[in-house]
Amino acid sequence: MNANQNSTLIFLVGFMGAGKTTVGRALATHLGYQFFDLDELITERTGKSVQQIFSELGETEFRRLEREAIQSCTKLVRSVVALGGGAYVHEDNRSLLRAIGKTIWLDSPLEVCLARIRGDKSRPLLGSEDEMRALLTQRRKSYADADHIVTADELNPEELSLKIAELLRQ
Ligand code: S3P
Repeated sequence: MNANQNSTLIFLVGFMGAGKTTVGRALATHLGYQFFDLDELITERTGKSVQQIFSELGETEFRRLEREAIQSCTKLVRSVVALGGGAYVHEDNRSLLRAIGKTIWLDSPLEVCLARIRGDKSRPLLGSEDEMRALLTQRRKSYADADHIVTADELNPEELSLKIAELLRQ
């Protein structure tokens, strides 16, 4: 077992617009942990926005950088990391993430996600409602592989963070 697998490294998984960053920050504050956003780690390392990486280098390169950023998380402890919506889809990433920390799927209804991200130019994979529904359907099985699933339909970020903290204590 990896030394980090002691629940002090928490990964929030879920679709674009699920609230991973907002809830992740609230959870980190509540636990007294550091907060990281995987897309921001990629942006810091490359000096390019996610959108630039997709348009200039392509999605395959983005996924490679994403995997590299996940690997860099093996060094972290007492941290909450919000993952990008595609990061938990690849099997290698899933096994690594589950080996080094606890994964939580923030399962927000598609309508809620769409209302948050509609028109957002910084999300290169954002498409029509039907395309987003199909993408979420395709990804649900991977997300469901998380250690814990939190249905995020009625609670606010603060309440969700308390619910996750409670799950992690069990
Ligand atoms: C992606 C989600 C984005 C970002 C990239 C790809 C995806 O992160 O990593 O645009 O494949 O769903 P958010 O989930 O924070 O939007």
